[in-house]
Amino acid sequence: MYNAFVFKLKHVCACFLTFLFISSVGLGLYLYEESTINQTELVLTFMVFRHGDRAPVENSLPYVTDRKKVLKLLRNVGFGQLTNAGKLRSYKVGAFIRRRYNGLLSPQYNFSEIYIRSTDSTRTKMSILAAMAALYPSEDSICKDIPARSCERNNWNLVPYTTEHPKYDYNLAIVNCPKLKKRFEDAFEGPAPEMSKYFKFLERWSKIVDYNFTKQPNMAYFVYDVYNAQISLGVPIGRKLEKIYPEIEEAAGAAINGVFGTEDQVVLAAGVLLNEFFEVAHKIMSGEDVPRVHVYSAHDVNVYDLMAATRVTPRQGVPKYGALYALELRRLMTSGEYIVVPVYLKTPDKDEVTYLQVDGCEGFCNFTTFKSLVSKNVLDVKEWRNQCGWTEDLEVDYKLFA
Ligand SMILES: *[C@@H]1O[C@H](CO)[C@@H](O)[C@H](O)[C@H]1NC(C)=O
Ligand SMILES: *[C@@H]1O[C@H](CO)[C@@H](O)[C@H](O)[C@H]1NC(C)=O
Ligand SMILES: *[C@@H]1O[C@H](CO)[C@@H](O)[C@H](O)[C@H]1NC(C)=O
Ligand SMILES: *[C@@H]1O[C@H](CO)[C@@H](O)[C@H](O)[C@H]1NC(C)=O
Repeated sequence: MYNAFVFKLKHVCACFLTFLFISSVGLGLYLYEESTINQTELVLTFMVFRHGDRAPVENSLPYVTDRKKVLKLLRNVGFGQLTNAGKLRSYKVGAFIRRRYNGLLSPQYNFSEIYIRSTDSTRTKMSILAAMAALYPSEDSICKDIPARSCERNNWNLVPYTTEHPKYDYNLAIVNCPKLKKRFEDAFEGPAPEMSKYFKFLERWSKIVDYNFTKQPNMAYFVYDVYNAQISLGVPIGRKLEKIYPEIEEAAGAAINGVFGTEDQVVLAAGVLLNEFFEVAHKIMSGEDVPRVHVYSAHDVNVYDLMAATRVTPRQGVPKYGALYALELRRLMTSGEYIVVPVYLKTPDKDEVTYLQVDGCEGFCNFTTFKSLVSKNVLDVKEWRNQCGWTEDLEVDYKLFA
């Protein structure tokens, strides 16, 4: 009894101290960021987010830990499709966009305020629909102009997005840019010296599952992804793997850098998207009337590589489902100078953004410095196709993204 009490007390004290520590550190950062942001006017936000939780894709089946259960549940969902958790997660992305960018958006959808684009993949398209349902809630639904009876249970709004065929979409370079595709596939094959730090751990992991990670260390990224998909489907990965999950996540966070993060990969995967940002930013700075909110619904590679292309440091590991990265163009109220603020929402479950540091800038970058720092990662579509080895008769296989 006494022991239990002492234990409890100690526990409480430790927690309290930890709490104090965390909140003061947190508060310090928060004040610094808020005070800088406070003295700015947001003029553009350009964001890309990863779709919500999905079921495993077909080629990942060999790595699920309970094939029977996964296959059974897959019947109701379909390979690579959003799970219910994923629809909810995407909805939360939209709620976040509303909270943070409310000042740039009317309550009702207005095409001149927002540009919305998704890759041509069912999971990203469904994600953007869920997000837009939250961004434009149904109080202003078309139902208010229709006799109540015909609108019963029909409280909805319509928000259109645009998409591109996978053969042409620069956000699907992973399928339509032959050079990038090859780099991606090769990354899983051979050894990965950058992963040597994790070899001991990979050995331990390999002993639990029937797969030798030390020979193909970057597979850590792929298999981590499979586990998340499996969990999202409602099939636990088992106690042994759950226990080492934080280490799996860390190893995957290092592996994704070998899979997507080298200089030439970053340019091919995100160079055109970054070019888009600059084109829009220039239009806005020169007073053109273009949408000030740009939303792209896409994949982990897009989120990761736009961050990498904008020299964010340190890199943030594998983007979780619903993770969102935004480049905010802001104007300092004092001087009128433009700055670029990279903002990361690690998960839409928490309304907590991280202000990321751009390598080469102290604090926030002004627009000019930002542009010169990242300019080598910018590509226009024509140049991108050249570097990719893209040809009009290219056959793209986008089954995994369908
Ligand atoms: C920032 O602005 C908000 C709202 O105007 C205000 O409540 C807050 O105290 C300001 N924070 C700082 C650090 O200036
Ligand atoms: C949409 O937004 C534009 C630009 O802010 C504005 O001029 C226009 O009146 C709005 N249209 C509607 C239907 O609200
Ligand atoms: C994996 O392969 C390496 C290198 O071939 C070998 O040394 C190691 O014992 C293997 N690990 C397991 C768990 O099979
Ligand atoms: C941007 O920042 C750089 C480096 O701090 C500085 O030299 C430059 O004058 C700034 N540019 C503008 C337009 O304020």
